[in-house]
Amino acid sequence: MAEVVIVPDAATGGALVADEIVRLIAGRPDVVLGLATGSSPLPVYRSLVERLAGRDVSRVRAFALDEYVGLAPDDPQSYRSVIRREVVEPLGLDPERVGVPDGSLTGIEHAGEAYEAELEASGGVDLQLLGIGSDGHIGFNEPGSSFASRTRVKTLTRLTREDNARFFASIDDVPVHCITQGLGTILRARHLVLLAFGEGKAAAVAGAVEGPLTASLPGSAIQLHPHATVVVDEAAASALRFADYYRETWAHKPAWQGL
Ligand code: GLP
Repeated sequence: MAEVVIVPDAATGGALVADEIVRLIAGRPDVVLGLATGSSPLPVYRSLVERLAGRDVSRVRAFALDEYVGLAPDDPQSYRSVIRREVVEPLGLDPERVGVPDGSLTGIEHAGEAYEAELEASGGVDLQLLGIGSDGHIGFNEPGSSFASRTRVKTLTRLTREDNARFFASIDDVPVHCITQGLGTILRARHLVLLAFGEGKAAAVAGAVEGPLTASLPGSAIQLHPHATVVVDEAAASALRFADYYRETWAHKPAWQGL
């Protein structure tokens, strides 16, 4: 099962994960990072800014999880723009080495396959950051997504479009389709790190970590991964049955194991 780390606040969680990423880059300058959008990974990116200052990150590769279909690439809400603004520019990554699925309408039928090929050619993701939607989605794999799925076009649920409407003028402006790495794609990354903060995520986190393995809660796919870490604050951990056990495990974790 996943290792659950309960932290006092999002900033502490972000620092913990950022330390692990710095360690990876120090060991392998051409590490492949899996990036996520949304508010949950932001504390990681913020911590990385100070930790990576002055270090050589020119060989780091990165791949985003997902993208809206049909937004212009320079639309401020496209995930290509979000990743550039929140990760690539602040960390000084080489934009040529950062991949985002292509959500343009032209050629969309082949974009999933093309992205899978890019991921494959990179040697695969070493550490994949994940958030979780309130309906339990990871990437944009909505309920019903196959555990074996690859990068493909999906239809967003009404709930996800409502959750994300805050970034658009109205819900009608939120795209209906997205292109997302599949659950099978995500499971190929060597280490999964899922971050969730706040009470709104408590049910989804409990389902992902302790619920039955079910495509109805796509985040539960992390239970199939041999190295998955879930970083949550007390509020997001509040529906976990075995929270005390996770605290105990973390308190006694041997230092050599790392995150
Ligand atoms: C979007 C993204 C997901 C993200 C989710 C939760 O739907 N596609 O990757 O996990 O939002 O976002 P937040 O972290 O802002 O709650």
